[in-house]
Amino acid sequence: MPFPIHRPRRLRRTEALRSLVREAKLTRDDFVLPLFVCSGTNVRREVSSMPGVFNLSVDETAAEVSRAFDMGIRSVIVFGLPEAKDEIASGAYAEDGIVQRALRAIKKSTPDVIAMADTCLCEYTSHGHCGVVRDNDVVNDESLKLLAKTALSQAEAGADVVAPSAMMDGQVAAIREALDNSGFEHTPVMAYAVKYASGFYGPFREAADSAPAFGDRRAYQMDPPNAREAMREAQLDYEEGADILMVKPATVYLDVLRMVRERFDCPLAAYHVSGEYALIKAAAQKGWIDEQRVMLETLTSIKRAGADIILTYYAREAIKALG
Ligand code: PBG
Repeated sequence: MPFPIHRPRRLRRTEALRSLVREAKLTRDDFVLPLFVCSGTNVRREVSSMPGVFNLSVDETAAEVSRAFDMGIRSVIVFGLPEAKDEIASGAYAEDGIVQRALRAIKKSTPDVIAMADTCLCEYTSHGHCGVVRDNDVVNDESLKLLAKTALSQAEAGADVVAPSAMMDGQVAAIREALDNSGFEHTPVMAYAVKYASGFYGPFREAADSAPAFGDRRAYQMDPPNAREAMREAQLDYEEGADILMVKPATVYLDVLRMVRERFDCPLAAYHVSGEYALIKAAAQKGWIDEQRVMLETLTSIKRAGADIILTYYAREAIKALG
């Protein structure tokens, strides 16, 4: 008879006891703060569907990173809004591209921050797809060349980590090879290995101006019902040399996150994406939920499911809440 010998409530009586037996704890080292860099100077434009998230010019980005670092943020990931877009995403790998300039400014003002670069083409192509388009199709192998060029130019501009998110087959191998051939064998690749074609990216596409002009991304991002296929994606990226694997979005794919955690012994990241952030913000603005409590519960669930690293627009608020 387990009861009355066993009383789980014994260890819940005080905050000190709860803290003693707490399993998953968030720390400031867990978080990566995403940033959206745009052209101009002194630009700070709030993204309407993401309260508290801004399009920042390069100067403002550098200042923002330095302030964030002072309050405990250890890593940022940079997305770019280029001035011009074309069929071959020239802005993604231009030496003076928006992300390249931002990386240099960030590393100059805050050398110790981990500056990650999202390696994708959708923000830079006129059609908004993540690769080269021919006959309404995203051509895989040709896109690899541009992705490799982009990662290399990001590393040259000072990126500490490159993070391919285009979901092209072979992108990790192509990037690893390009980096190794140019003396960047120490630059880690954080692979968006398991990235679903998700409605939760909606607000991001406003923030990064990257909505596809036709069709959608279902022919390259993963089909949401599939979890076994996620293991295959993770395995391929792992074999191609990914240093960190990522699952994205986070909360509606916690089962997948846990499966990747159990199978792969490399660091695991989860992206708490724009839509997941926007849902909490919107409900909080209506006074329907306690924002801080729901934020911490959500981020903790991602950690509990197995993530070592959490990319989230809440990074700053989470660190503040942790004290
Ligand atoms: C680039 C990219 C996207 C996100 C991260 N990298 C958008 C997309 O795939 O459409 C989404 C991040 C978010 O929603 O916060 N391909």
